[in-house]
Amino acid sequence: MKTSDWAQFFFPIALILIGYDKVNLEVQCRFGLDIPTGMVNEMSDRLYVGIDLGTYQSTISSSAGASHTIETIVGRPKDPVARNFLGRDVLFGNDALKNKLACNLYRPMAAGVAQDDEANLAAAKAFVSHLLETVDPEEYDEVFGVICSPSHVSFTDKSNLVATLRGQVNAIMVVTEPFATAYGIEEIAGSIVVDIGAGTTDIARIHGTFPSDEDQITIQEAGDWLDLALMELVVKKYTGAQVTKDMVRRWKEASSYVGKETKEVMVELSVEGKKQVVDIGDLIVEACESIIPLVGNAIKKIVATADPEYQPVLRNNIILSGGGSLIDGIAARMAEEISDIGDVNVWCVEDAINSVANGALKLAGEMPDDMYTAIN
Ligand SMILES: Nc1ncnc2c1ncn2[C@@H]1O[C@H](COP(=O)(O)OP(=O)(O)O)[C@@H](O)[C@H]1O
Ligand SMILES: [Mg+2]
Repeated sequence: MKTSDWAQFFFPIALILIGYDKVNLEVQCRFGLDIPTGMVNEMSDRLYVGIDLGTYQSTISSSAGASHTIETIVGRPKDPVARNFLGRDVLFGNDALKNKLACNLYRPMAAGVAQDDEANLAAAKAFVSHLLETVDPEEYDEVFGVICSPSHVSFTDKSNLVATLRGQVNAIMVVTEPFATAYGIEEIAGSIVVDIGAGTTDIARIHGTFPSDEDQITIQEAGDWLDLALMELVVKKYTGAQVTKDMVRRWKEASSYVGKETKEVMVELSVEGKKQVVDIGDLIVEACESIIPLVGNAIKKIVATADPEYQPVLRNNIILSGGGSLIDGIAARMAEEISDIGDVNVWCVEDAINSVANGALKLAGEMPDDMYTAIN
């Protein structure tokens, strides 16, 4: 046989063999059959993750396409009886909340991650491990993470954060939430990002590079503050009403709004043990309106202290993000509030809950390795 005849004979067979192998692997993957992990690793050996560690809730997004949001809360069984009943030593997010009477609850990010607070530090560690486990890091050779931490977490807290991640990721980069948001939605050229979270509102000028400390203002008025304001209003109007912070937060999340018109919002209250259905629409708008001038003034300050040539660009691109940006009508209302500084354009990010983690993930994949700090 001539060489070309051999080729004619073997080439189709080789194709069939390769094709078979591909199909076979696909079938194995799809049906979750046992695949030697080496085969998966060869294709993608580094996993990138973007982590938004929030006071209230945290989100992780991975380059493999996974994304999870969990309330930043950790529960530990109160005693051996609770431990036996629950069947586990530590509970996270919703699971912890559902079993709150049998647990000691920790909100590790709300408390900060201070060195001397063993219980909260351990809770933070457990929480971060749990968050990472949800994206299957063990299937990869190495994990590179970009972490956004709440602005009130201080420098020493940050070294604790790094310590909590040691052994779980290989390299990390810590960035601020507003910067991650701006990067994710490709607005780093010139914008002001206003992240209205639970514990704080962080306002940052973004102009093409990582913002410095002078580019950011943090105020304490945010979601939690709003909850307390609304709670006070409810208790004042309905004497003897028994309300918890969680109840008030749920009402706010379901019906928050700003503007001139008052809407009806019916809720069920217990007044001295007796059920009562009342309209709190006027109180919701009063509480939500009360945060507008405070955030508005902080935005004006960030504009006023910017390079004057840049101020028109910044005024024209004010982006609201974080859970607080879900207040109905907030962008238009904020634009009206700060209109005395000139023409402004205020808008809300599309995906308020995931925008920070998505931006962090985008940064993770696009930054060169030397921007990371190796931590193993
Ligand atoms: N629809 C809504 N209206 C007003 N506030 C909301 C809404 N949804 C969520 N929030 C509030 O947003 C805050 C959480 O926002 P988030 O950006 O996740 O905060 P953090 O980053 O501090 O965890 C909470 O105070 C929550 O009650
Ligand atoms: Mg946040």
